[in-house]
Amino acid sequence: MRYEVDFLVIGSGIAGLSFALKVAPYGKVCILTKGDASEGSTKYAQGGIAAVMYDTDSFDKHIADTLVAGDGICDREVVEMTIREAPERIQELVQYGVNFDKEQGGKFDLHREGGHSEFRILHHKDNTGAEIERGLLQAIHDHPNIELKENQFAIDIITQHHLGQRVTKHTPDIDCYGVYALNCKTNEIDTYLAKVTLLATGGMGNVYTTTTTPIISTGDGVAMVHRARGVLKDLEFMQFHPTSLYNPAEKPAFLITEAMRGAGAILKDRNGKEFMQKYDSRLSLAPRDIVARAIDNEMKQAGVEYLYLDARGIGKNELINGFPTIYAKCLELGINITKEMIPVRPAAHYQCGGIKVDKRGQSSIHHLYAAGECSCTGLHGGNRLASNSLLEAAVYAHNAAMDAIEKIKTTSLCHQVPDWNAEGMVLNEEMVLITQTKKELQEIMTNYVGIVRSDLRLRRAFDRLNLIFRETEELYNRSVLTEELSELRNLIACAYLIIKQAMARRENVGLHYSIDLVKNP
Ligand code: FAD
Ligand code: SIN
Repeated sequence: MRYEVDFLVIGSGIAGLSFALKVAPYGKVCILTKGDASEGSTKYAQGGIAAVMYDTDSFDKHIADTLVAGDGICDREVVEMTIREAPERIQELVQYGVNFDKEQGGKFDLHREGGHSEFRILHHKDNTGAEIERGLLQAIHDHPNIELKENQFAIDIITQHHLGQRVTKHTPDIDCYGVYALNCKTNEIDTYLAKVTLLATGGMGNVYTTTTTPIISTGDGVAMVHRARGVLKDLEFMQFHPTSLYNPAEKPAFLITEAMRGAGAILKDRNGKEFMQKYDSRLSLAPRDIVARAIDNEMKQAGVEYLYLDARGIGKNELINGFPTIYAKCLELGINITKEMIPVRPAAHYQCGGIKVDKRGQSSIHHLYAAGECSCTGLHGGNRLASNSLLEAAVYAHNAAMDAIEKIKTTSLCHQVPDWNAEGMVLNEEMVLITQTKKELQEIMTNYVGIVRSDLRLRRAFDRLNLIFRETEELYNRSVLTEELSELRNLIACAYLIIKQAMARRENVGLHYSIDLVKNP
């Protein structure tokens, strides 16, 4: 089938939905999402969204905290723009119907997380993301210009390459005409032509064995732009959240929000002793890169698979009412967090890098925007400050929408685009070729390209990945396309980019930490 729209959006998390709502009054909008509409990292966000709302805080403080967390390599202009725009974007979310918790007097109840010098995290109990997703989806369903299509897997963005022209990373005017997408219900590959396309495909946590991100986070948008020869940046900065609940069989790993440390919970070793004083004066509330490395080090020294978060000092009422999801989840596993410590370990959580975009969310490919976790705006630098990502997604969805509304006025659809050619492909009947390769890939990345790296580990990962890459390309070139195979291919591309960019970075900064760079600074 062929479809034609003004605005094509890939992804139905906060970034995709916010953009769609903004552009909808100006043209026909189609949102493609590969699973259920609500499935994505947005739904799992616990802590909240950072913004300066009252005079007790200031833009300057939020800017300074973001720059410090980013370890000196954030884009200062982007940081200033994002943080100053925050209150307006929060008001819009509220207008769309999102509820944030309030104090008795009617002011927003603000939490604090690692790296923040003030209480500035707006939240909805400990399930903020689910509330944001609910509110935005409701607004989308109410809008006549927006069609939201579930179970549609975007395979590749369409460029001049698909018109038979040679495209390299030096081609100056790569243009995006839409996407090819697999309809997961009919198994047909459809052509979507659009005046502008927004990639809002989220993160790539599933490159690693243990991740807090849902199964949809397979780096599809980043991989698509890589294949289309667009510019990608900062992929070595994979953020590991310090405290995922230790429950090895569970995927994704359940998060224990940093807001719990903000409320007074303390990291402890297996003997119940505090240890963060050995690493940073901000103790359990130091930025995430520092805390995750400290936990990793303590675990390796003790030869154990988890440490503890002690939330008992917070008080029973606050724990049960302020963190109801975490309280219930732990209780289900037999841990009463008002009386017992919570077993935790770090897990891959957030990709700071991605598709390089300017302040309008425009990528290096014309008519292609990116927003949310799949993008790299320069806000996070080497390490994202907690709760700045939902904010970044809202701000860049807005900026991209404002630009796209103007752009479609002078853009036409490219009708010469051919349909997808699947001739001669055979059914791959051995799923093990995909499932086992995915496991291998995740183990390589976890063992060699995790929180602490070295030249030798990166080289070894690169060599192992090469074999997996060749085998998978061979399979892809002869097989009928499936979502699983396409995702595997995307994960491999993302792993390759993480390793390549990690190898190229010759200093320890933010989330990139190599023992060789400590020895030979
Ligand atoms: P997502 O919400 O991940 O949505 C991606 C969408 O793209 C999905 O709809 C998916 O189906 C679709 N998609 C992907 N690939 C394709 C494809 N090939 N074809 C079609 N559709 C596709 N950040 C904060 O600021 N505060 C927090 O408190 C916070 N807590 C978090 C807790 C957890 C457990 C996790 C995992 C993350 C948390 N984050 C938090 C990070 C934040 O939630 C994410 O960065 C943010 O929600 C990403 O939004 P997004 O719209 O970019 O992507
Ligand atoms: C958390 O609640 O700890 C996650 C916050 C974030 O990832 O920004």
